[in-house]
Amino acid sequence: MRSVALFGVLSTFIWLPDAIAVKSHDFKTCSQSGFCRRGRALAARAEETTSWNSPYSIDPSSLIFSPDEALVSAAVKSSLYPDIKFSLELRIHEDGVVRVLMDEIDGLKQRYNEAADWALVSDPRLSKTINWTTGKKDLRAVYGDKKDIELVVQYDPLRVTLLRNKKEQIVLNGRGLLHMEHFRTETAKETSEEVASEEGGEGQEVLQVENVRAWFEGDTEDAYWSESFSSWTDSKPKGPESLSLDITFPNHGHVYGIPQHATNLSLPSTTGESPSYSDPFRLYNADVFEYLASSPMSLYGSIPVMHAHSADSTVGLFNAVGSETWIDISYPSEKSTQTHWISESGIMDISLLPGPTPEDVFAQYARLTGTTALPPHWSLGYHQCRWNYVSSEDVRTVQKRFDEEDMPVDVFWLDIEYAQDHKYFIWEPKTFPDPVEMTNDVAANARKMVVIVDPHLKRTSDYPVYQEASDFGLLVKPNSGEGEYEGWCWSGSSSWIDHFNPASWDWWISKFKTTKLDSGFSWIQSTEDVHIWNDMNEPSIFNGPEITMQKDTIHYGGWEHRDIHNINGMLFHNNTAAAVRERGDIPKRPFVLTRSFFAGSQRISAMWTGDNLGTWEHMAVGIKMVLANNIAGMAFAGSDVGGFFGNPEPEMLIRWYQVGIFSPFFRAHAHIDTKRREPFLLDEPYKSIVRDLLRLRYTMLPIWYTAFRENSVTGLPIVRPHYVVFPKDSTGFDIDDQFFIGSSGILVKPVTEKEQTEVTVYLPEDQVYYDYFTQQIYRGTNKGKHITVPAELHQVPVFIRGGSILPTRERPRRSSPLMKYDPFTLRVALSKSGTARGELYLDDGITYSHQQGELVWREFAAEQPSRKTTRITNRDLASSKPDTAVDGVDLVKYDPKNAFAKDIAEVRVEKVVVLGLSSKPGSVKVDGKGTELRWEYIPGAAASEKKDGAAASVLIIKDPKVLVTEEWAIVIS
Ligand code: GLC
Repeated sequence: MRSVALFGVLSTFIWLPDAIAVKSHDFKTCSQSGFCRRGRALAARAEETTSWNSPYSIDPSSLIFSPDEALVSAAVKSSLYPDIKFSLELRIHEDGVVRVLMDEIDGLKQRYNEAADWALVSDPRLSKTINWTTGKKDLRAVYGDKKDIELVVQYDPLRVTLLRNKKEQIVLNGRGLLHMEHFRTETAKETSEEVASEEGGEGQEVLQVENVRAWFEGDTEDAYWSESFSSWTDSKPKGPESLSLDITFPNHGHVYGIPQHATNLSLPSTTGESPSYSDPFRLYNADVFEYLASSPMSLYGSIPVMHAHSADSTVGLFNAVGSETWIDISYPSEKSTQTHWISESGIMDISLLPGPTPEDVFAQYARLTGTTALPPHWSLGYHQCRWNYVSSEDVRTVQKRFDEEDMPVDVFWLDIEYAQDHKYFIWEPKTFPDPVEMTNDVAANARKMVVIVDPHLKRTSDYPVYQEASDFGLLVKPNSGEGEYEGWCWSGSSSWIDHFNPASWDWWISKFKTTKLDSGFSWIQSTEDVHIWNDMNEPSIFNGPEITMQKDTIHYGGWEHRDIHNINGMLFHNNTAAAVRERGDIPKRPFVLTRSFFAGSQRISAMWTGDNLGTWEHMAVGIKMVLANNIAGMAFAGSDVGGFFGNPEPEMLIRWYQVGIFSPFFRAHAHIDTKRREPFLLDEPYKSIVRDLLRLRYTMLPIWYTAFRENSVTGLPIVRPHYVVFPKDSTGFDIDDQFFIGSSGILVKPVTEKEQTEVTVYLPEDQVYYDYFTQQIYRGTNKGKHITVPAELHQVPVFIRGGSILPTRERPRRSSPLMKYDPFTLRVALSKSGTARGELYLDDGITYSHQQGELVWREFAAEQPSRKTTRITNRDLASSKPDTAVDGVDLVKYDPKNAFAKDIAEVRVEKVVVLGLSSKPGSVKVDGKGTELRWEYIPGAAASEKKDGAAASVLIIKDPKVLVTEEWAIVIS
């Protein structure tokens, strides 16, 4: 519960969080949202009628092709409104993605058309090899390396179909639900009688059109010109402008994505026969107090990207829309999926991602919206947060306790109470009299601080940040278009910077400078060790409709908030990240955590799943949400360890740490009213269990960082659900409670139920899997197999897929930067055929020098040149892949002897552990050197063994004196 005591200022206001269990009734259902109601009603009418066609058609005589034919445009009209003009544009990108744009032309107003400008990373490159065939009924293009993709654009009714090998993959408007409500004037509507009498003999026909119109649009002007919800009225000056479109995947029985929702990864149905939810999935960034653990309701962020999957192929779509959007999903058969997208405003801008593998879809989406830049390495460590560490002394004590208990931690966080009257940047002098010294004390242990900066600016002239924004006219305007929008948040009466206004960008950057400016406020009471948490950026407005901003408020360019609502939070955290990056002399990688996000947010920020509850259901759904975010590109994701609300008992807290250490973003956080629950406060044996878990995370940091590198280049998720790794194994399509970490071969199944002592794990292939801790062997089968493994409280089921080599650093340290020169351990988990491979990526973890080729990227491989010999090698990967980019930058300057490689030149491999050798070796040597290495062999099962539970043979090679940055081979014979 949010505390009223602390926010007495708010308790006088209508938002009384302690008194009201603010839940669903604060937020609209589809039936309370005019355009959603209209969209769903059309779908319902269409469902009941067979003799009806979509009114939209293409005029073939209007087709215009660009010289290279990658772009074709056409005039579209609606038979119901012959005078209204629409345009359609199709663009085929180099990688086969089809972008479909539709807009109203010469309308009374302009539809919002800038969503893609914010979401896309650059202008996609158009194909040069497209040849269209124009037929009588349709327009076709066959393309792709194997000429297996076909795009068919049917003229009348308008319908767009993407096929592969003649099989329909994605169909737009196949069900005829396309409806782009055109702009009109409130008085322009004529009744059918008037039209009939005026038009005399043609009256009959017109009447018919009117009837179909009424059928198509509904016979009343449902919430066209204003709309009320609870005590608010939305003035809707532009009238109806929604966009409805059905998108069908005729050969795909699963859809994933469209975060953020607390639900299964394979999205449950919302319409059709016995739907799982009665409302569509909603995308409308919202601060939902005590959100449900299973619901299609909106949450803090929105990414309108969806994957459709079958054992045959994966396809995707990206809908570049920033306004409130509802998505109905139904599964008419096991093999097909229907979706219906209803957005309040904006043009149609939909990209069809042809796949055909999950990897292809990730690459196609990454080419559109970008990947996650490599974050600072320390941000993969453990983050200790709570609302609130109450003083600088408190921070110092917490740090001391971690050190006394030998628990690693990288970051201490400060929530809103550090800021005087919640005026962010301004330290409360009574409790934080020495913020720079405090930060330096934290930094002395190579740690960082993350401090919250929310978007609401307290409206008081003694707050320079507000005053400057006001003076420069940078604030969002109320619906009158004049003055400053005002709403309530933590700081009481507040205003919001309009980050859509380019003039706000440099100004915002200047606020984070740690040096004095010639004029204006800068954060001199801060250092480069302070990074930023952007919260409440949906934006959360306590006295606004649905706890957010009125839709008719005005942003830069005259756009209404309704048009850009879902994009708004992204601009805030992007600009913050730019500020953090640029505050010092040398640009450094920023860490910014955001609660609200949109397509493109992944490029720079981490997200978390907001105010979860300390319940087992929330723990479980957090994993699914993190996976869904990873599907949608937002890879640096996690949920509050321990649960934000509530006081988890030790069992739950431990299980939550087991989830947390396997999340890309790993932070413990707690509400202000909860009891302190830092891990050092636990009793034994719990305390030691958590210490071990924290250490496990730290030993695996090289694996995580390597996964982040891959994600930064390919867009492949950092945590991967089964369908991504085994796209042909249909048993895995529903699985969202176990997952793989990057390409490392680590499979994790966290325990998220009370009092478990064992769990079932699914092995998707005929391969050996090794228990990470006990080295026991489990052997999957071609058809997949479930195994049951022990999962007592201190145990988290982690497996190494046979064929993997894992680099870890096993020396306990206080924080991750202190591990920089630590030696590595290699776990070589032989596949059933005796081979293995793995990667290790390292760079300085702080600057951008990796983009200049200052990095180390190695490949470890185990091969069996003969039955009795296993060779483990280390080779440079970066020089063998000169065209491979890091952060999207080509490694043109890569030199294996770069400054970073030299810096860590002495870092060695201190131990090699080989799992699953078939017999005791006679000798273990470094190739080319005569001396026998020190080694120990524990007999056990070979990798080819099929008996589950048998302990694998383990060969431990001790200090082979080989370096990470050098080529070598260890020969086991
Ligand atoms: C919001 C955040 C939460 C934070 C609180 C106070 O509820 O989601 O993490 O602690 O605000 O800033």
